[in-house]
This record gives sequence, C-alpha cells and structure tokens, in this order.
Amino acid sequence: MSNLPGSEGKSKYVRETFNSIAKSYDLINTLMTFGLDKSWRRLAVKLSELKEGGTGLDVCCGTGMLTIEQARAAGPAGIITGLDFSENMIGIARQNTRDFSLKDNIRFIQGDAMDLPFENDVFDCATVGWGLRNVPDVFKAVQEMARVVKPGGMVISLDMAQPTAPVFREFYWLCFDRVIPAVGNLLAGNKKAYKYFYSSSRGFMRQQELADLFARAGLTETRFLNLCGGVVAIVKGRKPL
Ligand SMILES: C[S@@+](CC[C@H](N)C(=O)[O-])C[C@H]1O[C@@H](n2cnc3c(N)ncnc32)[C@H](O)[C@@H]1O
Repeated sequence: MSNLPGSEGKSKYVRETFNSIAKSYDLINTLMTFGLDKSWRRLAVKLSELKEGGTGLDVCCGTGMLTIEQARAAGPAGIITGLDFSENMIGIARQNTRDFSLKDNIRFIQGDAMDLPFENDVFDCATVGWGLRNVPDVFKAVQEMARVVKPGGMVISLDMAQPTAPVFREFYWLCFDRVIPAVGNLLAGNKKAYKYFYSSSRGFMRQQELADLFARAGLTETRFLNLCGGVVAIVKGRKPL
C-alpha cells in the first residue's frame, strides 16, 4: 500500500480503480479463484443464516454476485439490497441481474460503506465480499454493518486473508505478485489496478485480527473460517439480542 494515497484519498483511488476495471472484473475474478468464488459466496450466504422471505444487505456489492446468492437464499418473498460506491460496478450488477428470475427482489443503491444510508436494525443479515480491505476504516465499516442489522442477525465478511502454511504462503504471495497483475494487464489493460489487489491483500489484517475487530465492534460469536489454506477467509459475528 506504500504507493497509495493516505486514507483520505483511498476512497477516491479505490472508486476510480473499480470504475476502470468493472467490465473485466467478473472474468478476472473467476480466473483468479479458479472458479471457486461462487462456492465461497454460497458458503458466506449460508453462514449469514438468511432465510426465505428475509431482508439482506450486501455491502461493497460490486457486480452483484454475492447479492445474487443472497437473493437465491431469500427466494421470491425476500428483499435484497446491494450497495456500492462505484457507478460502473453497479452498472454491471444491473446487467448481471437483468435476466435473473429474482431480479425484482433486488435493489442496487449507490452509497458509501462508511456511512450506510439505512436506519438501525433493518436487515436480517449483512455481507461484504472482498470489500473490507478496500475501505478507509475497517472498524467503522463493520460498525455500520452491525448497526443496520437486526438484533440476532449475522455480519459476514468474505475476503482475502493470510495463508497459514509457511512455504505455501511465500509461494502464493510470489505468484499473486507476478501472475495477477500480468493477467490484469492482459485482460483489462490495467496492471496498476491488479498490483493494488496484491498490495491490499498482502497488507490486509489476519483473519483472527478481523474476528477480534468484529468483537470490538460489538458482535458476539465471532469466528473465522479459512478457505483454501487461508488464502481466503470468512469472518462472522452476530449482533447481540
Ligand atoms: C473487490 S470488489 C468486490 C465486489 C463483490 N462484493 C464481489 O463479491 O465480487 C470491491 C468493491 O467494493 C467497493 N467499495 C470499496 N470501498 C467502498 C466504499 N467505501 N463504499 C462502497 N463501496 C466500496 C468497490 O467499488 C468494489 O465494487
């Protein structure tokens, strides 16, 4: 992150970055995760405990892939809200849901994760996928998610994490540093954006630290679940009753 602006300029930088790669985001995401991203999103929604007919919030929804998984879980009586500050990412989300059978149960809103435009205690759950490492203040973002979730509801983060096995860890970061920016350059013509993905992932907090932050934000039953040896982790917590 050393070549990035300070936290004041981070939001602007991140928004411009995602606006610039919105069209190629889904393809590169699938390639980067070898197609595993879909199953990780499903697991995140399962852990959110969202039920049929429920109301879910997906913060930093991007192109809407996690939002769609929430909508599947909530079914035809559910109401799902996806929020993101990048107009181009939301534009792709709207395209992605155009032919989706539950599209009328989803609304996309342009807004800031640091100041959610919702009353307290209105959603059954809130998820954020690969979003927290992009916000200027992770604690504030988690507090905001906790604020808008009903008592007893779950707050879930799915994000890059810190692999645990020592040799694998070094190999993984080396590949991430070399391969992902090259793929980003090839498919999106934007090496800088994918260099940012590397630096923001490498510099992001460990899964246990994020679980501790969830607890400090007032959530209970905080846990993390490593996926692919900790390359990715789901962190969860429940708003107390
Ligand atoms: C890596 S993408 C993740 C998209 C999606 N959640 C997914 O599962 O693929 C991160 C998203 O977070 C959004 N974002 C970053 N900071 C934000 C903020 N402060 N408020 C709202 N959206 C933000 C970006 O615009 C981008 O669409």
